[in-house]
Parts: sequence; structure tokens; C-alpha cells
Amino acid sequence: MERKDVLISAEALARQRKFQERVREMYETRQARPLACVETFGCQQNVADGQRIMGMLEAMGFGFTQEPREADLVILNTCAVREHAEKRVFGNLGLLTHTKRENPEQVIALCGCMAQEERTAKRVKESYRHVDLVFGPQALWKFPELLWQVYETRKRVFSTADEHGGIAEGIPVVRERGVKAWVSIMYGCNNFCSYCIVPYVRGRERSREPSAVLAEVRELIEAGYKEITLLGQNVNSYGNDLDTDYRFPDLLEEIDRIPGEFWIRFMSSHPKDATPRLFDVMANSQHIARQLHLPFQSGNNRVLEAMNRRYTREKYLELIQYAKNAMPGLVLTSDVIIGFPGETEAEAMDTVSLVEEVGFNALFTFIYSPRPGTKAAAMPDPVSREEKQRWFDKLLEVQNAQSAALHAAYVGRTLRVLVDGQSDDPEYPLSSRTEGNRLVRLQGSPDLIGQFADVEITGSNTWALYGRIS
Ligand code: SAM
Ligand code: SF4
Ligand code: F3S
Repeated sequence: MERKDVLISAEALARQRKFQERVREMYETRQARPLACVETFGCQQNVADGQRIMGMLEAMGFGFTQEPREADLVILNTCAVREHAEKRVFGNLGLLTHTKRENPEQVIALCGCMAQEERTAKRVKESYRHVDLVFGPQALWKFPELLWQVYETRKRVFSTADEHGGIAEGIPVVRERGVKAWVSIMYGCNNFCSYCIVPYVRGRERSREPSAVLAEVRELIEAGYKEITLLGQNVNSYGNDLDTDYRFPDLLEEIDRIPGEFWIRFMSSHPKDATPRLFDVMANSQHIARQLHLPFQSGNNRVLEAMNRRYTREKYLELIQYAKNAMPGLVLTSDVIIGFPGETEAEAMDTVSLVEEVGFNALFTFIYSPRPGTKAAAMPDPVSREEKQRWFDKLLEVQNAQSAALHAAYVGRTLRVLVDGQSDDPEYPLSSRTEGNRLVRLQGSPDLIGQFADVEITGSNTWALYGRIS
């Protein structure tokens, strides 16, 4: 698709603002401010989308509540990555029959990745008749028009056509006030890892213009945000669809030149596209955190090939070695899947041995969940759930020991942290993060929230560090 067809035109966006106005005017005739309850599931990309939905709602005059009972509009922004995520959403949808019965005027909407799946739309159409609006991530920018359609026609609206998806700039965003912000630098995914639903529900990769990303990051830093995470399913392919040879390391270099005190993070990186240049740029930067989330999924070459990951164990280890040499003390995290169809115990143990070899500070570990429509879902999967659980438990045991040991090695050191909020531990009331994104629970006053501080690490366990301001 040509670039000009990807960028959603100013006229089309202006039209959406008119619908926003119409909804606002409709509600202005009422005494009370309308309330929306937006619940988001899934990854940070989805959280960022949820913040844009809230931005559009705010422009329509809505306030927000976390209580579906008191909401005029309830939106579930869903995730389809594993079966468990989908089950939770259907459970929540079921509960909303009660709120709608109490308040028949209530509008219920389902959006996000599940909404883009044909089989979900069909199931909602047939069995969840209290849902008024269903729209996928590709239609997010048209939300004002779709909502207006529901109000005007009082009919159910389904906007789940399999569109390529575009880039809409200038949609308002409601961010959590404070310290950290998310910025999507690209949308979609082209990789079609054989287990994964994301490319089917989020469309093809589209990169935002560098100037748009830079302007947003600058604005956030000027507004006082101290940590900005750049988001994409594979940030290392940022720019492949631009007409120039500008790529992710170029974007990082430009962002790094913005003055101020802040950290830049990014996720996720695909090992097949990570380059030594990326690590060199990180190593030479002022603001890019020495932290890398580099999902490897499996430590076995046969499984990696069946997953369509397009790198080998050896290539992955080589990248990690380069990154560690370029950035001593680099903090590493990763995603892993256990129990891919046809995986044997010996292959799963290759994953465990890779974990032992690399030394990750933390892992996001998943048992394979078949996603209808993906290639892997059609592969024979003879191993029982109990057996996979056994392999998974072994992996966790090794990883937990490793996290605990790496954390223990910080005790006695002084680390720079960003204090990002309050913690639920009365003895250590503050929560903060190191440059490597490790959680440090702190003693200190809430005035420190939003500030960088030097902290002496006094204790540790598998999940967190403990410290005091030094
Ligand atoms: N694009 C990112 C990447 O490639 O690293 C993240 C994609 S996904 C939102 C996050 C993680 O979910 C993946 O890295 C993978 O480990 C896991 N995942 C995706 N599909 C899965 C499935 N069908 N079953 C279990 N885990 C899955
Ligand atoms: Fe899914 Fe692979 Fe794309 Fe990540 S890179 S979103 S795992 S298809
Ligand atoms: Fe994210 Fe889930 Fe969609 S992990 S991209 S919200 S399927």
C-alpha cells in the first residue's frame, strides 16, 4: 500500500471531530456529565489505544468512572493473545447484562484485538445481544462516528472489516498524570510468528513519521514526564515502510538529543531485526536506558523454525553477547513460550539452558495457547497440559533462582532510580525503578514521586529490591 493511503487525511479526522461535537451537544442537554468506564486488557499497545479512546471520550464531554454500574458508556478494550485473556472478557461481558438491565440506556462497546476477530464478532452478535458497538483496532480513529451511529440509529453497530489500518495523528490522549508515558511509534505486525494472533488483528506494519514521534516525545518531556517507552510489536522494523532509509536507531539518536532529565525505553524488539548498530546507539546515548527486552520464545532451533521466528539460538546468543559487551551491566528480560505444538521435553530443556546461559533479570513466561486461525493451531499437539506444566515449573524454578541471585548482587550498591509512585508496603511506602527497570521499594516522602534519586540498596528478593535514599 502506498504511504499516502496509510496516513489518514486531515479531512477525515476533521469529520470525526464533528461527530465528537455532536455527541457532546447531545449530552449537554442533560444536567449531569456523562460517565464512561473504560477497561483495558492486554499489552502496552492496547493501553496506549485505551488512552486515545479516553482522549476522544473526554473531547465528547465524558468524565470517567471505574464502576460499570454508574457509567453511561462501558467499553471493554480487549486482548486476544491467549485463550485466558478472551475468557476473562466474555466473563466481564456476561456481568454487564445486569448493569444494562438496571440502566437500559447504557451503551456497551467491545473494542481492541478480540473485536477484530470474525469469530468473536459473530459470537457477540448472536449471544451477547446487550453489546451495542463492536470495533477493531483498525477502526479506532472512527470511534466518534461509530458511537454517534449507535446513539442516532439505536441499532447495534459492528465495524470489524478486515482493513489494512492507517495512521491517525492528532487524536487526543488521556494519560495517567505523572511520571511515565507510552508512545506508539508504529502499529501492526508483519512477522506472522506461527503461534500469534497479533498480525491478524492489528494489520500490517505502519510507522509513524519521525517528525510526529519526535514532536510527541518533546511535548511529553516538556510536560514533565521522566520516562517514555516507545512502543511497537517489533520496533526494530520501524521505518521499513517509510520512503527514506530512516530506521529505529536514527529515531533513538534524535530523541536522545532532546535536552532534559529523562529515560527512554522501548519494546518489543525482534531478534531477527536487532542490529549491532542499535546496541552501539544505546551504549553511546545519554537517555536510553541500558535495558533490553529481547523475546527469544524458544532455545531450540527446530522449534524456532516451526515458530517462524527466523533466527537461531546461536544468532540470539551472539546478539546478547554483543549487547553485553557494548553495555556492561545491561539488564535483560525476555518472553518465552513453553509447550509449542510438537515440542519435546528435550527441546523445552533447551529453552531452560538458554535461560541459564544468558542470565535474564526477569522473564515473561507463557504456556502455549492455541489461537484459531494461526498456523500453529493446525499443528499436532500431543503433549498433555500436565506435562507442559512440569516443564514450565522447571523453567520458573531456574528463572526465580536467577532473578534472586542477580537482585542480591545489587545489595550494598548505590543506584539511580526514578520514583514513580506509592507502594503497597507500609514499611517501604514508595515505589521506584532503576535504569534497568528493576522495582525498588523505598523509604522516603511522597514528595519524591516524579524525581530521580540515588538510592542505597539494602535488601532484595526474587521480585524486588529494597532501598533508602543515600
Ligand atoms: N511483538 C512482541 C514480540 O514479538 O516480542 C510481543 C508479542 S505478544 C503481545 C507478547 C508475548 O505473548 C509474545 O512474545 C509471546 O511470548 C506470547 N504469546 C503470543 N502468542 C501466544 C500464544 N498463542 N500462546 C502463548 N503465548 C503467546
Ligand atoms: Fe506476534 Fe511475532 Fe508479531 Fe510479536 S513479532 S506480535 S510474537 S507475530
Ligand atoms: Fe496486545 Fe493482546 Fe492485542 S497482547 S496486540 S492486546 S492481542
